Amino acid sequence: MTRVFKVDPLNPDQDVIRQVASILRSGGLVAFPTETVYGLGAAVFNEQAVRRVYIVKQRPFDNPLIIHISSLEMLYLVAEDISEREVKLIEKFWPGPLTLILPRNPRVPRVVSGGLDTVAVRMPAHPVALALIRELGEPIAAPSANLAGRPSPTSAEHVIQDLYGKIDAIVDGGVTLYGIESTIINARTNPPILLRPGAYPVEEIERVLGEKVAVPDYARGLGEATLALAPGMRYRHYAPETPLILVDPVSGRIDTLVSKVLSTIMELRDMYSKICVVSSKETANAYRSLEGVSVIEIGSRWNIFEVTRNLFKTLRILDTLKCDIGLVEGFEERGLGLAVMNRLRKASYKRILA
Ligand code: TXA
Ligand code: MG
Repeated sequence: MTRVFKVDPLNPDQDVIRQVASILRSGGLVAFPTETVYGLGAAVFNEQAVRRVYIVKQRPFDNPLIIHISSLEMLYLVAEDISEREVKLIEKFWPGPLTLILPRNPRVPRVVSGGLDTVAVRMPAHPVALALIRELGEPIAAPSANLAGRPSPTSAEHVIQDLYGKIDAIVDGGVTLYGIESTIINARTNPPILLRPGAYPVEEIERVLGEKVAVPDYARGLGEATLALAPGMRYRHYAPETPLILVDPVSGRIDTLVSKVLSTIMELRDMYSKICVVSSKETANAYRSLEGVSVIEIGSRWNIFEVTRNLFKTLRILDTLKCDIGLVEGFEERGLGLAVMNRLRKASYKRILA
């Protein structure tokens, strides 16, 4: 049975937090809100519970989880040998959506880190997540609370769609703030490497470090990562059930993008009777009057934060419309746009350049 607890995200009821922490303490699985997306948590030192996280998500055991902490003392329970560069990032960005790859403290069960000698750690900035970790008194291992391959959950409703009946509790704290996962950095290498673009733009991280961060192709959603570097990047991700084609605006021109979407619609028309287009507010009118075409607005092209927040919800809505095929407009690969384009490239089976 899955119990659902509604809480005020800014000021969660301490009684609820106590109940939910005790579920975790006895080896249960709990979905909870963070400032990025909902996580599916297990007490990090409970090997059995952590194993169940992989099983209910249908996640391969070699794709490790992120460890969530609420204090710097907790950091040393799960990691060791923090470098000066990492201290700089921690001071500036925690609590918040930055995940660091650190040497694993041998106390952490291997199943948490998918057998690697490193762990991924972050301190979330959400009052519910922090209260829960604090009340439990130890870190929580948590991947995003979706079935493997599905879009990450940005509301309790999404968690219910994927995991209801399979986990012990869901803490419903409303819609998450960023709507995209944390930025993952390996700051041990020279230069540091961006493993996954996320809610903190890489430009901000470079500014704090005073040095460039390498952005490999796989961080842009192009090509594949090697196992040891970024295990999660090898798997199919974020994909709606509707087959999706991304129209990628490599020219940087909106008029070129719109013409390419229109010509693609014309080509697809013979084969598919219902085509869905995910578009920005500004360009939606170009497709709206076309017969057999449904338009879903994702947000304003000039407000990438809005697009980011709506991204995963939009991919889920796409499936409810039962389209035969979907087309999605791309965005500029700058700031949060890099994270959006990474997810869109992974969610689509085909990429057309415009
Ligand atoms: O915002 C977030 O990061 C959310 C919330 C719940 O905190 N969590 C999240 O977890 O997105 P998940 O499991 O969906 O993504 C974890 C990613 C995977 O891509 C995994 O491969 C990577 O972190 N990861 C974990 N441990 C790693 C390690 N030791 N080395 C490299 N990558 C690692
Ligand atoms: Mg995930």
